Amino acid sequence: PEKTEAARRLLSWYDRHRRDLPWRAKPGETADPYRVWLSEIMLQQTTVPAAAPYFRTFTDRWPTVRALADAPLDDVLVAWAGLGYYARARNLHKCARVVAEAHGGRFPATEADLLELPGVGAYTAAAITAIAFGRKATVVDGNVERVIARIFAVEEPMPAAKPTLRRLAATLTPDERPGDYAQAMMDLGATVCTPRKPKCMLCPWSEFCRARAAGIAETLPRKLAK
Ligand code: ADE
Repeated sequence: PEKTEAARRLLSWYDRHRRDLPWRAKPGETADPYRVWLSEIMLQQTTVPAAAPYFRTFTDRWPTVRALADAPLDDVLVAWAGLGYYARARNLHKCARVVAEAHGGRFPATEADLLELPGVGAYTAAAITAIAFGRKATVVDGNVERVIARIFAVEEPMPAAKPTLRRLAATLTPDERPGDYAQAMMDLGATVCTPRKPKCMLCPWSEFCRARAAGIAETLPRKLAK
């Protein structure tokens, strides 16, 4: 697909179908890096519906990264209970302290500096860069991998295909509206380009999807037989 046209179609679809999620800024509002960071850490752990009540509890109780940094670790661990994997909650608290103490309470605004923070990996750094700071970054999670594998009909099995999918995802990432584009990709993968029975008739990219043309969309991405 031609990059500008692909982005235009996806963003227009997003403008019509975007999900109203508690961590998303409304159109025209600026995103809060703290809320973006918190939501992305939670969403690595669990689904959108499961994360939403936790996100509300955390942001009601600790509305800023400084407030979270000042909270006793045990309070954070108790609030995290049910999300699982406590190492993540410890890192969350540690990261809040680093942002509060080493960065004056503001999240660093570049991918490289974000990567230095505890618990922030490539995915989270790219997501914060694009969604909170509106800077171009290629955000690749499982949903995005599936969309890209299908658009380009990548038949190489996972996980070997990961670098290929990342490179192809980068070729489509536009300069305009990087945060909306990243979240549009996630929504497309979650609601239309689903693992089973993808709803290709509703897809803004169906016309140039190579997997759909070949009738193999549902079989991608392939997994190596175990
Ligand atoms: N999954 C991970 N991050 C997400 C986001 N910002 N919106 C929707 N689903 C997500």
